[in-house]
Amino acid sequence: MQNFNYMTPTRLIFGKGVVEKLPEVMAMFGKKILLTYGGGSIKKIGLYQKVLELLKGYEIVELGDIQPNPKYDPSVLDGVRLCKEHKVDVILAVGGGSVLDCSKAIAAGACYDGDPWDLISYKAKAKAALPIVDIITLAATGSEYDCGGVISRTETNDKIGYMDPLLFPAVSFLDPTYTFTVNRKHTAAGIADAMNHTIEQYFVEDATLLNDGFCESMLRSLMINGRKCIENPEDYTARAEMMLACTYGCNRILSLGNSHSGWPCHGIEHALSAYYDITHGEGLAIITPRWMKHILNERTLPRFVKYGINVFGIDENLDKWEIADKAIEETYKFFESIGIPMHLREVGIDNSRINEMAHHIAVNEGLDEAYAPLTEQDIVEILTSSL
Ligand code: NZQ
Ligand code: ZN
Repeated sequence: MQNFNYMTPTRLIFGKGVVEKLPEVMAMFGKKILLTYGGGSIKKIGLYQKVLELLKGYEIVELGDIQPNPKYDPSVLDGVRLCKEHKVDVILAVGGGSVLDCSKAIAAGACYDGDPWDLISYKAKAKAALPIVDIITLAATGSEYDCGGVISRTETNDKIGYMDPLLFPAVSFLDPTYTFTVNRKHTAAGIADAMNHTIEQYFVEDATLLNDGFCESMLRSLMINGRKCIENPEDYTARAEMMLACTYGCNRILSLGNSHSGWPCHGIEHALSAYYDITHGEGLAIITPRWMKHILNERTLPRFVKYGINVFGIDENLDKWEIADKAIEETYKFFESIGIPMHLREVGIDNSRINEMAHHIAVNEGLDEAYAPLTEQDIVEILTSSL
């Protein structure tokens, strides 16, 4: 087992109706709030109106229209400007992972005198950040329980995972009923995202029995409950379990003591969504089985065998290579069965920029140090086989 140094300071408030506690929570942070949200879903589900009612008496500045794959310009820059102009005390992010990620970058940028991109691109380290409270409305990223935010800069095709312990939300409200309205596409993408977060942490050199069990249980739960959410969007129990599973995805709790993974599928997908603005979870679902096929060899075989037996219940008496092949096929078939387009061409990506993207990934993502190291040529092959 590897050494680790770990803390998650976020308070989770989970369940039906918990948003009623919002005034009590916000009172801990001050009177001036930057309320951030996306393209309008929170207005459609009545949550925007509810928040304004609950926060009567607070001074609220709004930043709406934060797009999926949140953009540095205008969203982060506008948010930082608003925080500085209005001397905001706390950010309240209401929406999916994109709204929350954008809010994290704003929280750090608001306490920094220079260009916020210095922080996101790790040229400078934040000394402080505004506190963040969120009401998460989509189960997927785990941003509500981690210290990362992923920000895109269109003109340079960058999509950077910006992490800093200062960016943990102070409080996250998780009410599964707010996810009832998430459509089939984004529910499926959320399942795929959280499954891939788990897979990224499972396929490592040095893992514990404890973490393996946790990951295998995550994957089974996400597949069973995820499918129920798709079939019956208002199944509270399924939405609740999916929401909690997603929350565990990215805060390292699944891999404490494990060796380095490198998060290769994320490294590759972030370039796809930077270049083509596709939905993150769909990109991951397309890449994951192709990546698995590409890295399967004598050394990695035992991990695939364990994954196949414990996650998909494949017969352990079969030949090991057969188990591994079946496990990869089952992974593909599951994503396909929940309606995810399983080819890059179906999400508008052809082969014209594969070399350029592979180069960008090889230079920026450090995948040569992953569990199964990937060269630029490996990335070209994975992308080509995903077409
Ligand atoms: O913009 P609105 O109108 O709110 O609509 C959103 C958006 O169109 C909609 N939506 C959200 N909640 C809804 C809803 N529609 C109906 N009912 C609701 N309750 O769903 C659409 C997608 O929202 P988005 O926030 O983009 O999705 P998600 O939560 O999957 O976030 C994706 C972003 O997170 C990053 C991804 O790269 C991507 O940019 N990630 C963040 C991570 C993190 N912070 O730890 C880790 C992940 O690996 C990931 O990279
Ligand atoms: Zn992800």
